[in-house]
Amino acid sequence: MSEEPPVTYRGRVKYDERTAKKYQARKSGKHRAEMRMVDRAFALVPRSHRVLDVPCGGGRVTLHLAERGYAVTAADLSDPMLEIARENVAKNKLNCAVEKQDLEQLTFGDRAFDTIISFRLFHHFPTREIRQRAVNELCRVARKYVALSYFSPLSVTSAKRILRAALGGRKTEKHATPLREVRGYFAAAGFRLVRDFAQLPLIHTMHLALFERIGETRP
Ligand SMILES: C[S@@+](CC[C@H](N)C(=O)[O-])C[C@H]1O[C@@H](n2cnc3c(N)ncnc32)[C@H](O)[C@@H]1O
Repeated sequence: MSEEPPVTYRGRVKYDERTAKKYQARKSGKHRAEMRMVDRAFALVPRSHRVLDVPCGGGRVTLHLAERGYAVTAADLSDPMLEIARENVAKNKLNCAVEKQDLEQLTFGDRAFDTIISFRLFHHFPTREIRQRAVNELCRVARKYVALSYFSPLSVTSAKRILRAALGGRKTEKHATPLREVRGYFAAAGFRLVRDFAQLPLIHTMHLALFERIGETRP
C-alpha cells in the first residue's frame, strides 16, 4: 500500500532564484503601507527585545526593525532568499544573523527570542494541521510576543478572489483565515490576542495580529 504524500504548499518551495529576485520588486507604496502596519504592532514591543523575523525573505522586515534599534535574527527556508537577505544586511551595515530554518521545525530553544514576527507566510498554509503546527512552533520559541500576518476573509480582496475562482478563473493559492480561527491556534499554544491591525479593515485582506504569552509578566 502506498503512503499518502505529506501535505505541502507552494509557498514552501516556489522561491527559487528567479522567484526570489522577482519578489524583491514589490511596489514601494505597498511595501511602505505594510511596514506602517509593522510599526503599529511594534509600538507595543520594547526596543530591548531580541526579535526573530521568520520567514525573512529578502530581509525587508529585518532591515526595517534593525534600523529602528531591535536586535534582529532573520531566518528563511529558501537559499536564494537567504542570499538576498545576507546581501541586504551587509549593504546596510547591519549586524543581523541570517539563518536557514524551517518555521515548522525551528532549531532554536524554547523562548529563545522575546518577540517573533512572521510576515506574509501564514496565508500559504493550506490546512488547519499546518497552521496549528506553525503557530505552536512560533509560540514555543517566543518568550513574550508573536506578530503574525494573516489574510482575513472579511475583505473586498478576499471576496474578489472567491468570485474569480467561482467564475472559473484562476484558483487562489492564498488561504484566508478568520481571526476567530487564528485566535484558536494561539489559545491552544498559551497565547492571547493583544491587538489586530489592518491597513483598511474590510478593504485589505492582510492583517497583522499581535499575540502575547499568557502569564508572562516581564515586559
Ligand atoms: C511571501 S515571502 C515573505 C517574506 C518576508 N516575510 C517579506 O514579507 O518580505 C514568503 C517566504 O516564506 C519562506 N518560507 C516558506 N515556507 C517556509 C518555512 N516552512 N520555513 C521558513 N521559511 C519559509 C519562503 O522561502 C519565502 O521567503
